[in-house]
Amino acid sequence: MSFAIQIKNLTKAFYSNKKEVLAVNGLDLIVHTGEIFGFLGPNGAGKTTTMRMLTTLLKPTAGTGHVVGYDLATQAELVRRRIGYVSQSGGLERSATARENLILQARIFGYSFQEAADRAARLISAFELVDFADRYVETYSGGQRRRADIALGLVHKPKLLFLDEPTVGLDPQSRAHVWEQIRRLREEGTTIFLTTHYLDEADNLCDRVAIVDRGTIVALDTPSALKRQIGSDIITLGMPETSIALCDTAVFSSLADVREVIKEKESVRLLVRQGESLLPHLLRLCDAAGLTLTTISLHHPTLDDVFLQKTGHSITQENNR
Ligand SMILES: Nc1ncnc2c1ncn2[C@@H]1O[C@H](COP(=O)(O)OP(=O)(O)O)[C@@H](O)[C@H]1O
Ligand SMILES: [Mg+2]
Repeated sequence: MSFAIQIKNLTKAFYSNKKEVLAVNGLDLIVHTGEIFGFLGPNGAGKTTTMRMLTTLLKPTAGTGHVVGYDLATQAELVRRRIGYVSQSGGLERSATARENLILQARIFGYSFQEAADRAARLISAFELVDFADRYVETYSGGQRRRADIALGLVHKPKLLFLDEPTVGLDPQSRAHVWEQIRRLREEGTTIFLTTHYLDEADNLCDRVAIVDRGTIVALDTPSALKRQIGSDIITLGMPETSIALCDTAVFSSLADVREVIKEKESVRLLVRQGESLLPHLLRLCDAAGLTLTTISLHHPTLDDVFLQKTGHSITQENNR
């Protein structure tokens, strides 16, 4: 299997007000050719900084990397010619049409005018931009603009496409449309590396996911394998803080079906096998231990549970902060 991306100890430190911020902290990573690889983490996790190093826009503080077979440090120009990059804000000139943007970009990459026009027409059709391709970009909806952004990143037929938060702010229908386009690109042989802070995007769209927090990868696997690590079910026992203080986690961890007990501010989370059959038992146990329950819930694992288990905090909560 060949590698689209291979990095070792990739690190970026920023200095602001004489304080060091380790935005990316010693990443080791391999992305395979032909996969949709997701970089999932909350705001500030270091996703954009990583992507900017992988696309040669930012020089690493330490570490090495190969992207589409070329060395990031010594062959940056070769890397740049073979990758596409769609930043969070996109690269479209707003006071021009999508068609004009695409043609200009193709000309920059050295296509003749006729080739550039053909390339633009092909992308306009593939990304379903036909209805608005000859209007100014500033008149587009969020979803239309995003599809045009992605088309722009593909003008020079890159083998590897980087997408930074491709569906932020889009309505569900536009998101689904963008996902469809990303899957189509993979079918055509393009490798995709995308960042996201959306759990469902990582879960549904990506072949493999690296979960990142504070500049490090805390878990990496297929979404289903990541969720399987958690065990079968999660039971959350909501309690007032007074009960939490009283609660001895050994009460729960002594049960055969309980794999792990995590105390939080207003709840105790249990990672368990066979959640349904355990619930009645837990209720009796809480009663006997004099613990007041405010709520009780059972759910099957999500990628947020993986994140929570590895980091002690939740992506959903971070996203809403
Ligand atoms: N140019 C910069 N100067 C100083 N700090 C930065 C700079 N760019 C990013 N950071 C910091 O690095 C961390 C990671 O940022 P970023 O890579 O943008 O995260 P993400 O894309 O996951 O939201 C954050 O703490 C951010 O404030
Ligand atoms: Mg970012």
